[in-house]
Amino acid sequence: YIYTLNYPVQEEDLCNLEMRSIFDKNPINKIIMSNIDFNPSDSAFIKGQLTPLYETDTFEEILKKLDEDKLKLEEFRIELINELDTGIGYHERLPYFNQIGERIEGIPNVKNPKIRLGLGKLNDRWIFGFYKKNDALWMAHTNKPCSYSNSLSVRVARSLINIATNGDKTKTIIDPCCGVGTTIVEGLSMGYDICGTDISPKNASNARKNLEFFNLEPRAKYQDMTTIQEKYDASIIDIPYGLFSHITREQQQNIITKAKKISKKLVLITFEDLDYMVNNANFKIIDRCVVPKGKFKRYILVCQ
Ligand SMILES: C[S@@+](CC[C@H](N)C(=O)[O-])C[C@H]1O[C@@H](n2cnc3c(N)ncnc32)[C@H](O)[C@@H]1O
Repeated sequence: YIYTLNYPVQEEDLCNLEMRSIFDKNPINKIIMSNIDFNPSDSAFIKGQLTPLYETDTFEEILKKLDEDKLKLEEFRIELINELDTGIGYHERLPYFNQIGERIEGIPNVKNPKIRLGLGKLNDRWIFGFYKKNDALWMAHTNKPCSYSNSLSVRVARSLINIATNGDKTKTIIDPCCGVGTTIVEGLSMGYDICGTDISPKNASNARKNLEFFNLEPRAKYQDMTTIQEKYDASIIDIPYGLFSHITREQQQNIITKAKKISKKLVLITFEDLDYMVNNANFKIIDRCVVPKGKFKRYILVCQ
């Protein structure tokens, strides 16, 4: 598969960490090639997934292969993959599409296609195949009925889910300091078994309201995370920080220490260097990145 990526400059580091977590490699020029089949809509950074049918030296060879294979496809649409630049200008594309289209049996549907076909060029080779586009439905989660000044963004939350699970849907997740439930909304809508707790009854209740608003199970409860008994594959903790809430160093340490007891892996989000607390909790930092946020920096640590 060929994945094309896009991200705001300040989130490049986060995108790379997410791609390493899912595909075990860094992107090159906003492209990842992998044998792993990953739904592009599950990441805010993946624009699309191209499954190559043909890789050739010339465009004419693609036409030749289409003549041989006699594809039968209903309601298809052909598009140029911008990131895999063919050198064909936007206004020159139709003759190319027509030559492809007339070799496929079936009726095209440009407006509402069931099948997308992508044409691109990579390392001087023409590539033609099935294209799956990010449906961007997750963007609707930006407008939650209950917000919180220091919430994570939807893009970051989605990324954290993939980093915590390596894209494995069988993994169980907890966000024990869930705030208004940003990561739970993303995790549940991506099909993960995820729940959350918050020590503030108001935040826990707002998280449930947000989940119900998107027709998701209200899996957020009012609980001090240091009393959690259940075990999970991963926890995602956006740790409360002195600037925004009243929390002592000891309480922060207790949260991280508890995370080690209830989960095999921790993805920790902090506004300052808390490596020593992670080490005190006997976690090992296996990967990391920094995401600038206004005047501050968010540190994301992957711990095991
Ligand atoms: C930085 S906020 C999390 C924001 C969240 N990621 C969001 O997007 O809404 C930290 C949260 O941790 C909660 N918290 C603090 N101590 C806690 C504890 N011991 N157990 C559970 N939640 C706790 C706070 O009430 C606060 O909602």
